[in-house]
Amino acid sequence: VSNKMWGGRFAEGPSAIMREINASIPFDKALWRQDITASRAHAAMLAAQGIITEEDAATIDGGLDRIAEEYERDGVPEDWDLEDIHMTTEARLGALVGPAAGRLHTARSRNDQVATDFRMWVRDAIDQAIAGLHALQHALVARAEEHADSIMPGFTHLQTAQPVTLGHHLLAYYEMIARDVSRFSDARVRMNESPLGSAALAGTGFPIDRDATASALGFDRPTANSLDAVSDRDFALDYLMAASQCALHLSRLAEEMIIWASQPFGFIRMPDTLSTGSSIMPQKKNPDAAELVRGHAGRVIGCTTALMITMKGLPLAYSKDMQDDKPPVFEAASLLGLSIAAMTGMVADSTFNTDRMRQAAELGYATATDLADWLVREADIPFREAHHITGAAVKLAEQRGVALDQLSLDDLTEIDSRIGERVFDALSVDASVASRASYGGTAPEQVRAQVKRAKARLAEK
Ligand code: ARG
Repeated sequence: VSNKMWGGRFAEGPSAIMREINASIPFDKALWRQDITASRAHAAMLAAQGIITEEDAATIDGGLDRIAEEYERDGVPEDWDLEDIHMTTEARLGALVGPAAGRLHTARSRNDQVATDFRMWVRDAIDQAIAGLHALQHALVARAEEHADSIMPGFTHLQTAQPVTLGHHLLAYYEMIARDVSRFSDARVRMNESPLGSAALAGTGFPIDRDATASALGFDRPTANSLDAVSDRDFALDYLMAASQCALHLSRLAEEMIIWASQPFGFIRMPDTLSTGSSIMPQKKNPDAAELVRGHAGRVIGCTTALMITMKGLPLAYSKDMQDDKPPVFEAASLLGLSIAAMTGMVADSTFNTDRMRQAAELGYATATDLADWLVREADIPFREAHHITGAAVKLAEQRGVALDQLSLDDLTEIDSRIGERVFDALSVDASVASRASYGGTAPEQVRAQVKRAKARLAEK
């Protein structure tokens, strides 16, 4: 039997392999809502333009309504012969309303249809990502405010560098996430043009109104070039690239929390609700959610790479390779949604062991730079020499197993006679943190100012 939809010029039907490799319904059924919405807008436009009768348009509309109810209730049927969601719905419409169904595809092709549906889907995915990221930003800001004064070691090379506040550290992630939100928002503005009416590739001879369908579907305008419109997947790539960068940020946060939760660090206790146990080691509490966020980032980046490579060799206009655009986008969206939700819970519900963090900052000689700076400021010693003197002080403290501010003044003057009593004002982690009050710095007052700015930005949304 030749194909019901396009079999007119075929003597033989497709092989089993052809039917299977061709079928996108197993995944593109996720577009059913967008497909029905776009079809309704198209039919209404066709009637308004006098291309089909109002009566046919009403029949089509009623049929699509019923199909939506069926899909909602029973799911979308998967018939490989119908290939995709577009033909599945059109075939069902024919069965329900008869010949009027055959008029719906006037002045339309599946090429502009799928491009339109998919844009609408991606647009929703962007809105969902932004909503999730806002929740994460709120959690970060709340915890940052709570810990504007909590001191921890700041690291470079994962070696204790200078003391910072936990609030400052959390707000660094707030900034990354703010850039992610901005990237998603930019992508949304750029993608919000309607391909509908581009037809197969060249436009159509029917007197359609592309502005009408564009505005009915919430697009800002119709796309400008029909060839581009049916062969463009930049909107999906923009989404995937924003998602990749976002997943990368979530992965870095997950990685830090995994390190902080390990026993030698002991900086945080993760919520039980986002941890798992071990089947053999009763003491274990494993950071699986965070580890999966870190893992998922790799997959999201893989999805992006997959679609880039699919697209890079394609001539204009539509090629069937482009049917493979959807699985990576769907996969990335679901991985990203889970990752955002998991990290929001981790940030909101982890317990910070602030004593332990402070202790780690004190024992890690995190204020060595403060000692060197003091020698420069108070004793007019060139920084390079001050660096050397401070190195000797760290070495001595290390030999004694004490913090820098636990060395005696005698110890210090033996290293360099220019060191005076007042050096101790600079050696505590509190003094160090308080002194770094430059704009954006780690001083509690600056952290509170950052919290204030972040809250104001979040309130604007
Ligand atoms: N299932 C197809 C896809 O997802 C729809 C477009 C088919 N167009 C075509 N010319 N065969 O890409």
